[in-house]
Amino acid sequence: MVLDPDSSASPRAASSRVDDSAVAQANNVDIELRLLVEAIYLKYNHDFRDYSVASLRRRVLHAMSQFDCATVSALQEKVLYDPHAFHQLLQYLTVPVSEMFRDPSYFLALRQQVIPVLRTYPSIKVWIAGCSTGEEVYSMAILLREEGLLERTILYATDINPHSLDSARQGIFPIQRIKAYTANYHQAGGLRGLSDYYTAAYDGALFDRSLREHITFADHSLATDSVFSETHLISCRNVLIYFNKRLQDRAFGLFAESLCRRGFLGLGSKETLDFSLHAPAFEPLVKAERIYRKR
Ligand SMILES: C[S@@+](CC[C@H](N)C(=O)[O-])C[C@H]1O[C@@H](n2cnc3c(N)ncnc32)[C@H](O)[C@@H]1O
Repeated sequence: MVLDPDSSASPRAASSRVDDSAVAQANNVDIELRLLVEAIYLKYNHDFRDYSVASLRRRVLHAMSQFDCATVSALQEKVLYDPHAFHQLLQYLTVPVSEMFRDPSYFLALRQQVIPVLRTYPSIKVWIAGCSTGEEVYSMAILLREEGLLERTILYATDINPHSLDSARQGIFPIQRIKAYTANYHQAGGLRGLSDYYTAAYDGALFDRSLREHITFADHSLATDSVFSETHLISCRNVLIYFNKRLQDRAFGLFAESLCRRGFLGLGSKETLDFSLHAPAFEPLVKAERIYRKR
């Protein structure tokens, strides 16, 4: 007689097997994730290898359901053989979400504490790292215009997502978001009306060409590229949360290298420099907004 091994199993043993298989499945997903990011790096030169595993896993699992792939390996095969699928996946991996004058208290702090120092410089360079679809850089350009500094400023707006950069270059934002942006603008200390800076057409708000003329948009990765210019102010918000500590340190190293002596680094309330190797190179200026000054 052949004994069915399951028939004698206690409920506890059965549940532990279920646990084991759940653990094995989670391990498989982690292995497949590492293979996926390695494949993306080798094929497309986009480096997600040092992104935070938890958020990467969440975004890849979400993409799998949209791509109708049962496993991460199936998704890997798809993006390896189909560059169009990779560009679609990039939309999930990069979280292209932004808003104008996002966290208005951050822009108010820049206006009150950073602008008075920038005003003393004959020319100014500002770097918006991880600019997404451009809302942050247009907000910064408006702030600089109102403070009379835009004419002597170059703004560099960089990102790794080509779709986001294209849309940022156009400077058109959905009209239905303008009400919320206007409220943000006023809370950020805006001196006029936000409508002074755009023309409404159909369902879009087209921001002034005169703002765009001061902005250079570029493909630049904090994971693989080096410093491209000396800067006086760097704003990098809602980007480093997606990186692991090693990659965060790499980014902070780039910022420290790019900033001039006594330059400013703004991270916003969700990120911190506190546990970084590069923390000693900076001192806090506005703690709540995580605005630092290079020593
Ligand atoms: C959530 S958005 C933040 C946009 C804007 N800074 C804000 O706070 O509204 C994150 C952006 O970081 C960009 N990003 C992700 N990894 C990057 C990297 N290695 N180098 C540069 N930008 C990156 C993404 O493409 C995305 O546009």
